[in-house]
Amino acid sequence: MTQAFPDAFLWGASTAAHQVEGNNLNNDWWRLEHDAADFGVQFSGDALDSYHRYEEDMRLLSDAGFNSYRFSIEWARIEPSPGKFSRAELAHYRRMIDTAKGLGLTPVVTLHHFTHPIWFDKDRWLADDAVDAFCRYVEQACTILDGVEWVCTINEPNVVAVNHGMQRQIAAGEPFRAEGGYLPDPEVGRALIAAHQAAVKIVRSKTDAKVGWTVANQALVAAPGAEDKHAEVQHIWEDMYLEAARGDDFIGVQSYTSQIVDENGIIAHPEHPDNTLMGWAYRPDALGIAVRHTRDVLGDMPILITENGIATSDDERRIAYTADALRHLKDTINDGADVRGYLHWSLLDNFEWGRWEPTFGLVSVDRETFERHPKPSLQWLGSIARANAI
Ligand code: BGC
Repeated sequence: MTQAFPDAFLWGASTAAHQVEGNNLNNDWWRLEHDAADFGVQFSGDALDSYHRYEEDMRLLSDAGFNSYRFSIEWARIEPSPGKFSRAELAHYRRMIDTAKGLGLTPVVTLHHFTHPIWFDKDRWLADDAVDAFCRYVEQACTILDGVEWVCTINEPNVVAVNHGMQRQIAAGEPFRAEGGYLPDPEVGRALIAAHQAAVKIVRSKTDAKVGWTVANQALVAAPGAEDKHAEVQHIWEDMYLEAARGDDFIGVQSYTSQIVDENGIIAHPEHPDNTLMGWAYRPDALGIAVRHTRDVLGDMPILITENGIATSDDERRIAYTADALRHLKDTINDGADVRGYLHWSLLDNFEWGRWEPTFGLVSVDRETFERHPKPSLQWLGSIARANAI
């Protein structure tokens, strides 16, 4: 049975500057890629050269039938030294916005997607002037946002708080826990919340955009008897970030998989042949769980799915995963969730934060020639976008 999505639904794909642009020499990830190369961390290098090829990338989306593109602007390029802004880089991102609009793509612009200028890196979000520094950047970013309808302040603040917290623990002499299991650091989380709330005010005062942030939703499920631990972990992982979004214009939901919480905490994904190239459980139903939980916390706030996808080398599996995720999403809409759009992660097989193997893209890229090769999933999802129905 055909199931239509709401009118004016956004259908698109997402990327992030550092994962696609190339040569982001002035941010903390570039430095980490060099410093940690001996530990197997790979190098972003030229990435996909989208810094120069963004028009080609966007054209692939619009030709396939999509009507939206989410991308981020790079703080380290725009503010290469504290208080010194690059007019040329601001103009570059304005050209990206204009190009998207010219191609019929509604731009969804993220102001901060994981990377920080090197000069900000020392104490990062825990520095006394961190929020002021971020606000100074946001004010400048607003000068290019005229006519942009959707602005995300900080991407996955809870994951930023995981990474920052992990670095704090290592710096304090705790051994690195290779098996993972790090939780977001609540102190960092509170600083990010302050930065977000200040940024929302600035974006509202300087633009007409809808403004919100995007939270990594873990679709956590309690093992029998572990309801209290589940509530505790859920608060630290996502609810404090969701609650901080109350009063925003929308909330971005990002979902890939689901995890079980027992009395000791989150259970790592057990080895399984169905696991994705990230080692995550294959759980297309996670998107429905994530939307329902977001709604439980925030009520009827507009929701944008700002990321959902799968790391796989098998494009048929990508289609199967996404088809199922969209069915779960539609169920939430049928139940009253105010979902405004679905932005797939990702448009391109991009730099997965220290690794190139986990491929999330609707399009693969030859990293020698930068030639783009659309996969069948691009046309498949584009035809859903054209029909606005599954
Ligand atoms: C991030 C992306 C990342 C994706 C897959 C999200 O955590 O926003 O940058 O590539 O998930 O891991």
